[in-house]
Amino acid sequence: MTMNQQQNPSDQHDSGLRTPDSGPSKYIHPLTIGTLRLENNLCLAPMAGFTNVAFRLIAKEVGGCGLVASEMVAAIGPSQHGAHERFRVLTQNVAAEKPLAMQVYGRDPEMCGATAAMLDQAGADIIDLNCGCPVKKAKQSGCGVALMREPELVGRIIKAMSQATSKPVTVKMRLGFDANNRTMIEVATAAVENGAQAVFVHARTGESKHGTAVDLSGLAEVKQAMTKLRGPQFPVIANGSMETAAAIRLAKDEAGADGYQIGRAACGDPWLFRNLIAELTGMPLYQPSYDERRTLLLRHFDLITELFGEQRGTRVMRKYTFFYCNGLPGVRRFRDRFCRMADRTEFIQVVDDFFTNLRAGRHAEGDIAEHLTLFDKGGQGDEGTGEDH
Ligand SMILES: Cc1cc2nc3c(=O)[nH]c(=O)nc-3n(C[C@H](O)[C@H](O)[C@H](O)COP(=O)(O)O)c2cc1C
Repeated sequence: MTMNQQQNPSDQHDSGLRTPDSGPSKYIHPLTIGTLRLENNLCLAPMAGFTNVAFRLIAKEVGGCGLVASEMVAAIGPSQHGAHERFRVLTQNVAAEKPLAMQVYGRDPEMCGATAAMLDQAGADIIDLNCGCPVKKAKQSGCGVALMREPELVGRIIKAMSQATSKPVTVKMRLGFDANNRTMIEVATAAVENGAQAVFVHARTGESKHGTAVDLSGLAEVKQAMTKLRGPQFPVIANGSMETAAAIRLAKDEAGADGYQIGRAACGDPWLFRNLIAELTGMPLYQPSYDERRTLLLRHFDLITELFGEQRGTRVMRKYTFFYCNGLPGVRRFRDRFCRMADRTEFIQVVDDFFTNLRAGRHAEGDIAEHLTLFDKGGQGDEGTGEDH
């Protein structure tokens, strides 16, 4: 199966959206961003090193999310070494994953505008500006979350991007650079007054860790300000630990969120989206079998190696394998083997051994269904630069 081949509809996992009774609910409903209508308001968050075309296609096919997002693309111009190949990998996309948001990372309005035009050409349906990345490199270069200190500049970047593309431009921001500098209203206002058609809000400030609670009052303030500026229909999308039905209900009921963007929890669990839709529309939950998990892992491998080639693709696939198997008995015991897989034959052997053991209940003494911590809980070092995989 290649990325350009659509699955036969009868082979597709039921996304949960085509079920006749699952209709719109208070929490799950279509969403309009500028000229684009999303089938539902669950979005995959951009994650550098993760949300490549293979991952996104699976999130769409299996989960049925309304919008997928690319990893951030640095606005560095085409002349830098390796930029062409990096751009190809970051922007490769297929019809079956659409609609697709691609993200610009930078601070120079002209460069960001030029990059927006390139992303438009490459097939983006939405072009987003990164105002949230908290890594040291971003802060030092005045990009990512550092832009939260410069609302006026954000306005100029968004203006340049909006002039460079006819696709809807959006901004993904935090509540502020840090707890003492909560500039979310100024940044969102500057972005929207200069053409942004939706605001994605990671409801934490730049220094707060991913494990800390999101601040729904900050999100509510953004929603109120945007309602005043553009009316109640203007989309404000909640991000940050939105992976449970309870979190989504709170974001809607307490902050008036219009949509929900999910990152880490979707890794290894593309069924999450359809299960959230099911739970929030009163439908039964879906529990993938071991066989289904294994089949999807193999399909993910095929898609990844199509993108990166076998050698690099197998290395990239190691981390996804952990995510797919996390929470199952034996994952810790297979850790070393997952980390060493070097080619297709080895990958299939290791995955087959893992699932054969599971099915046969042949867990070693002491094997338990275990969740390994796979993301840095600090939240400072886990947003990549868009350069590594
Ligand atoms: C590995 C990783 C990479 C990320 N890369 C990006 C990125 O490229 N652009 C961006 O706006 N946010 C990025 N984020 C932040 C996520 O989009 C999201 O805001 C954050 O993980 C909180 O959402 P969650 O709790 O659903 O994971 C990244 C997060 C992680 C964990």
